[in-house]
Amino acid sequence: MIHLRHITKSFGTLQVLKGIDLDIAKGEIVSIVGPSGAGKTTLLQIMGTLDTADGGSVMIGDTDVSRLSQRSLARFRGQHIGFVFQFHQLLPEFTALENVMIPALIAGVGRSEARQRATELLGFMGLAERATHKPSQLSGGEKQRVAVARALVNRPDVILADEPSGSLDSANKAELHALFFRLRDEMGQTFVIVTHDEQLAATTDRTIHLKDGRVIGTTEPHMTTAAPEGQDMTEEPLDTDAPASQSLTI
Ligand SMILES: Nc1ncnc2c1ncn2[C@@H]1O[C@H](COP(=O)(O)OP(=O)(O)O)[C@@H](O)[C@H]1O
Ligand SMILES: [Mg+2]
Repeated sequence: MIHLRHITKSFGTLQVLKGIDLDIAKGEIVSIVGPSGAGKTTLLQIMGTLDTADGGSVMIGDTDVSRLSQRSLARFRGQHIGFVFQFHQLLPEFTALENVMIPALIAGVGRSEARQRATELLGFMGLAERATHKPSQLSGGEKQRVAVARALVNRPDVILADEPSGSLDSANKAELHALFFRLRDEMGQTFVIVTHDEQLAATTDRTIHLKDGRVIGTTEPHMTTAAPEGQDMTEEPLDTDAPASQSLTI
């Protein structure tokens, strides 16, 4: 689903990514961990086409995104990728329902269809009763779930989340994490989650350890059971030397 080949990125003289190769299969939930400044956000932004690499290639599905024009890229991103950030970034003037509808309206979905999708998603998130509330009337956990619904409204193939539970208490954190797995199981989405949270990382199919702009190891606590039958399970990580249940290979 996502294939990165030798991704490099510098800001001025600072080389932030030093050649990243990564393959993520459809339906996989992958976490990316590493110290602050390791390049996690930069990598996620490049994966999500919000930023461009200096070198290397990014394939999402069958599309080489580095070949798309800015205009096609924006459309591609809107259709295929959903983002969840540490801080929900909901628009304060709009209700939960409207916040979820907006990306669909931008993508050209009709108003009633957008409303229906948003209502359904908020229901799925356990937020049916909160649909007409504005962000200031919602708790932190609720806001973050609205943000997840917003990320899903255009039915993206891939959800990229940058420290999505970073601002949540432990109960809301657990709930948000459970939600990611439920979404994968019920909708088949692929998730890449940058996190500081060891507990969340340990529950994902695979953890990529990033340090100083390089992948320094992969932990694979569980065998992936993600992709339904008939889907391509041959997309293994590059680093296939490691047995499936092995721990960090620094
Ligand atoms: N737009 C930018 N301009 C200059 N430096 C940046 C920019 N974005 C990130 N950096 C630097 O790149 C390094 C990696 O940043 P980042 O990808 O945010 O790391 P992480 O998310 O792992 O903490 C840091 O040293 C950061 O200061
Ligand atoms: Mg970051």
